[in-house]
Amino acid sequence: MDPSDDDLDALLGEQVAYYRARAPEYDATAEPLTGGREAGEWLAAVSVVRKLGPFGHVLELAAGTGLWTKHLVETATTVTVVDSSPETIELSRRRLVDVPVEYIVGDLFDWEPERQYDTVVFAFWLTHVPPERLTAFWELVEASTRPGGRLIAVDEFTPGLIDAPHVGSESYIESRRTREDREFRIVKVLRHPDRIAASLLHRGWRPTVRYQGDKFFVLEAINGSAG
Ligand SMILES: C[S@@+](CC[C@H](N)C(=O)[O-])C[C@H]1O[C@@H](n2cnc3c(N)ncnc32)[C@H](O)[C@@H]1O
Repeated sequence: MDPSDDDLDALLGEQVAYYRARAPEYDATAEPLTGGREAGEWLAAVSVVRKLGPFGHVLELAAGTGLWTKHLVETATTVTVVDSSPETIELSRRRLVDVPVEYIVGDLFDWEPERQYDTVVFAFWLTHVPPERLTAFWELVEASTRPGGRLIAVDEFTPGLIDAPHVGSESYIESRRTREDREFRIVKVLRHPDRIAASLLHRGWRPTVRYQGDKFFVLEAINGSAG
């Protein structure tokens, strides 16, 4: 049974609360830099994203503590970030001292852009968008990207699980605990980059999967409405 709209709102609220509660511990686990295959893939994905610059005017959605913002700012003209957690935004501010980033505390299931950007980036966010809200999310990205601009999505996936029955049922609800042992429900939908690319193509974007490992992918898509 699919969750009702009210249930979904409650779940997404819990997801916001989880990342607020987890902000102080986020960086310790999010960036797998200590050896092994995952670290290699992470660094490969970072390198691919960096090479996609210069980025022009950037909007970064669900930017968190700034693990990707720190790379984007190097060749961006301006960077605006949106995240629902004031706590993670504060950590990003501390990371990016003296860098003129515009910070917006906002809920992406509600937020509307006031302008369009050259590049819209979202890293490790798409897996947290439930199928029922995916179309609205693409509409937000489309409203935020200038014609001929682009989106860059970075996320995780697990090749063997691609066709697992996550989509369209509440089986995408997962449980997470903070170090303080508080429990929250979050959304986790693993989507294959080829499927995301196919959806974007259907919506008039020109997508290219720029990197695909066993853990992470980087997808770039040009907003085809430039004609
Ligand atoms: C997995 S983290 C990714 C953070 C960052 N992009 C990164 O890769 O390190 C997900 C982020 O989404 C934010 N978030 C959760 N729900 C949100 C919502 N409804 N609107 C905006 N941001 C949200 C969290 O606060 C968190 O910073």
